[in-house]
Amino acid sequence: MRVLHSRQWGGYHESVKELETSFARFHQVEHAVACSNGTIAIEVALRALGVGPGDEVIVPPYTFIASASAIMLCHATPVFADIDPETLNLSVKAAEAAITPRTRAIVVVHFGGRPAEMDAFQALARRRGVKLLEDAAHAHGARWCGTPVGGWGDVATFSFQSFKLITAGEGGMILSRSAEIAEKCWSYCNQGRKRDGGWFDHYTLGTNYRITGFQSAILCEQLKKIPEQNKIRGENVAYFRDGLKDIPGFTLMADDPRIEQHPYYLLTLRYYPEGFGGVDRDTVIRALNAEGIPIKATYPHPLYRNPLFAQKSAVLGRCSGWHAGQDYEHLNLPEAERVCRDGVWLNHTVFLGERRDVDDIIAAMKKVKSLASTISSLQTVG
Ligand SMILES: Cc1ncc(COP(=O)(O)O)c(C=O)c1O
Repeated sequence: MRVLHSRQWGGYHESVKELETSFARFHQVEHAVACSNGTIAIEVALRALGVGPGDEVIVPPYTFIASASAIMLCHATPVFADIDPETLNLSVKAAEAAITPRTRAIVVVHFGGRPAEMDAFQALARRRGVKLLEDAAHAHGARWCGTPVGGWGDVATFSFQSFKLITAGEGGMILSRSAEIAEKCWSYCNQGRKRDGGWFDHYTLGTNYRITGFQSAILCEQLKKIPEQNKIRGENVAYFRDGLKDIPGFTLMADDPRIEQHPYYLLTLRYYPEGFGGVDRDTVIRALNAEGIPIKATYPHPLYRNPLFAQKSAVLGRCSGWHAGQDYEHLNLPEAERVCRDGVWLNHTVFLGERRDVDDIIAAMKKVKSLASTISSLQTVG
């Protein structure tokens, strides 16, 4: 109502500043710039790091397209490095092996909310003189080794799109410990203005990537709920992990004591058909869906298998200065390929309920498992 009655509904309403201040404080980072979505946030952050034509940026292939397409929108080249099967995040070793003299930055994604090994990535980036961007679109409030995500890299980005842990339908956020990087991001999102400059004074080439006052007001309220919701999900996932011990066909990644807070945006399980009498993953998913469990297959393929990357010359070549880094068509990163075949997701809303909701999931899994031999023989009959 404050925004409604202000007659200033757009990106210059005071609630935007309030959101930036409280989001930065929550993640213990000095500077924040709100913007229109998480994709724009990555693009703007990369520009602020100086990423441009001719540069390479290392990125995992097991993530949403935005982590890579934002690099291309800066006319730079995404270079895919494989994930670590123990975490499903970018492998530190693979990232290091992918560094070339053209590498300008590494985009680390805290996939599903699980914080990446940021101490190791920070050390790698410093040692090899490359910039570090945390794509924290899934990881609001996650903590690694006592420190929240968002302040480990040179810059970090978040999303408030409809599926995310907190949402205003759309929205994004950029965090940085550097006042200089934050000022560049703010200016880029605000038509090249300066925060303390005039409305018609434009210092750099920018555009309008602002979030609105309404979105910010909603997000200020939602932000207050994150600690409690992260706690509830943590407890329910621990209980779920215990229940899974009786269902050998599904496994969860091991806990890591260095993860102080995992918000469980997406809980990824690995499926082994041997545990379900050889029934394939997608059939088991359909059976569980029929039992009312909203379980889904993960991404159908690693990012580089998208048709976009097959159109190298037709699409990417139009970006001036773009250079072909990897042969995407023949790329085969085994761990990313494997999790796209055997991974399944349960999303964060599933674990916001009570223990008996978790019991429902376990009971449905047991039921489908008990029917596995029947399903399997029906499949054989065709
Ligand atoms: C890992 C990741 N990065 C970035 C984004 C982009 O965020 P948005 O949808 O707000 O543009 C998303 C997804 O929505 C995502 O999953």
